[in-house]
Amino acid sequence: MAEHALAAEQLVAHARRARTRAYAPYSHYLVGAAVLTSAGEVFTGCNIENASYGLTICAERVAIANAIAAGQRDFIMLALITANGGSPCGACRQVMVEFAPDMPVIIADELGIRETLQARALLPGFFGPEHLPG
Ligand code: THU
Repeated sequence: MAEHALAAEQLVAHARRARTRAYAPYSHYLVGAAVLTSAGEVFTGCNIENASYGLTICAERVAIANAIAAGQRDFIMLALITANGGSPCGACRQVMVEFAPDMPVIIADELGIRETLQARALLPGFFGPEHLPG
């Protein structure tokens, strides 16, 4: 358990560094994320906004996409950091449960970890592959 707590703090530190790279000139809401894979590697993401607002990409999905593009999609844990401990958006929750419904999601602010929730608990009754025909 202490080992897990340490890993969580380390993952938040990665997310905090990624947050410094956020491109958020419109909302000024900086988000950093980091995901740990079963290979022991950490992939990070930050939010990337666009003058065409709807094209904005969230930090969590950037981190997950980075890992998948590197050939890793067995996720152990994801950390997210914002100024005020904001929660992952619905689109990010759906992407998290696609790959790792049991993964702990650590929500942090500038002072540290605020709460940890399982991905599936963030999206009760989520749509999954079992809902698709065939
Ligand atoms: N944002 C994220 O990066 N992750 C979330 O889960 C919620 C929202 C970003 C998108 C946008 O750049 C800014 O936060 C304000 O919505």
